[in-house]
Amino acid sequence: MKVVAVIGSPRVNGNTEALARHALEAVAAEGIDTEIIRLAGLEVAPCDACMVCRGTAQCSIQDEFQGVYDKMLAADGIILASPVYFGSATANIKAVMDRAGYVARNNGDLFARKVGGPLVVARRAGQNFTYAQLMYWFMICGFVVPGSTYWNIAFGRHPGDVAGDEEGMRTVANFGKNIAWLLKSLGDRAG
Ligand SMILES: Cc1cc2nc3c(=O)[nH]c(=O)nc-3n(C[C@H](O)[C@H](O)[C@H](O)COP(=O)(O)O)c2cc1C
Repeated sequence: MKVVAVIGSPRVNGNTEALARHALEAVAAEGIDTEIIRLAGLEVAPCDACMVCRGTAQCSIQDEFQGVYDKMLAADGIILASPVYFGSATANIKAVMDRAGYVARNNGDLFARKVGGPLVVARRAGQNFTYAQLMYWFMICGFVVPGSTYWNIAFGRHPGDVAGDEEGMRTVANFGKNIAWLLKSLGDRAG
């Protein structure tokens, strides 16, 4: 079994990555493989609505999306993690959500019954909206989303700040534990 975390920050080793790493450590502690997928530095254009993916299961845009999508498809669990930019998810992660979601949904709901959920970090405000924004993607794609002891949000501005948000870190660790519990409970029935 494997859980991947797609990091929607353009900042390597930033707060989003630190939060996601903490969640994945809890997953790994339960004996499940994990991997961080950084979007930072990758060229992933927005969906251009060409509709080629309908029936072909292929995105027609030739960039670095395919490598990300292949890892998402192969995983049993997917975390999408984003910082808040102007009250919303980053353009980086939105491009992946739109393209991966459209290809998967147009070719037999390829993410259905995978396990996953969102993580969000911001300096001050916008976590709840962005959390909801990401959650819409998980729900329409047919994921099974476990809860935690709070919503998976945290506070931080400069890289590393998020480690000081004790409740945020504890919440995502509990989320990671619940991902592992759910995956083991579903066993072969997971997507
Ligand atoms: C373009 C931009 C827009 C931002 N918008 C918000 C915002 O709306 N609300 C907020 O609280 N923080 C905002 N921030 C701060 C980031 O969410 C915060 O620094 C976060 O920790 C960055 O995560 P990272 O270290 O993973 O990149 C913004 C930062 C940037 C660069």
